[in-house]
Amino acid sequence: MPFEVTALVPITGAETLGVHLGKHHQAYVDGANRLMEPMAKKFETAVEVISFARSIEAHGLLEQAGQALNHGFFWTCHQAAGLTRPDGSLEIAINGKFGDFAGFTDAAIALGKSRVGSGWIWLVADHEGAVRLELTRDAETLLDDPSLVVLLVCDIWEHAYYLDRASDRAGWIDGFFGQLADWSMAKTRYEDGLSREPDAA
Ligand SMILES: [Fe+2]
Repeated sequence: MPFEVTALVPITGAETLGVHLGKHHQAYVDGANRLMEPMAKKFETAVEVISFARSIEAHGLLEQAGQALNHGFFWTCHQAAGLTRPDGSLEIAINGKFGDFAGFTDAAIALGKSRVGSGWIWLVADHEGAVRLELTRDAETLLDDPSLVVLLVCDIWEHAYYLDRASDRAGWIDGFFGQLADWSMAKTRYEDGLSREPDAA
C-alpha cells in the first residue's frame, strides 16, 4: 500500500483496512494459488487464470481468482490525499452522463442499494469515451472485458464497510467515490483507453 493503515480514516478505519487487505484479500490470493497448485499449467496474469477457469467451469477458482483480481485493482483506486473530483475530459463525460458529480454519486448509491448481496460497483467507459456504471455480483469481474475501459471500482461486500458504519452501504459508496477514489488515476485510464484499440486492451 502506498499509504499508512490510518490514511483512509474516517471513511475506512485502520481495523477495516487491516482485515480487508490482510485477511480477506490475502485469503482470495491464497485460495486461488491453492486451487492452481495441482494444475499442470502456468499462468502469466490473473486474467489468464480467470479465462482458463471459465473455460473449464472451475467455479471455485473463478471466484477466488476474480476476488483476488478485483481487490488488487480496488486498492489502486484509493488515494490518501483527501477529497478529489474528476476533472478535464473525465469530468465532461461524467457530467454528460449523470448531470454533475452529485448525480453520479446518487446513481452509484442507487445501484449499490439495488444489490441485496455482495458485489462491486464499476465506473467504466467504452473506447469512444462514453462512461457508465456497472454492477457485478459476488466475485464477478469486468477487468477481463476488452470492450471496456475500467476506471474505478468500489467493493460493496460488507467486509469493506461493516466495521466502520454497520449496514450503511450508501454512506460507504458516497465516502469512497467522494473522498477516497483516485480520480487522477481514473482520468489517466480514461484518456489512455480512448486512444487504445479494444483488441489491445
Ligand atoms: Fe473486499
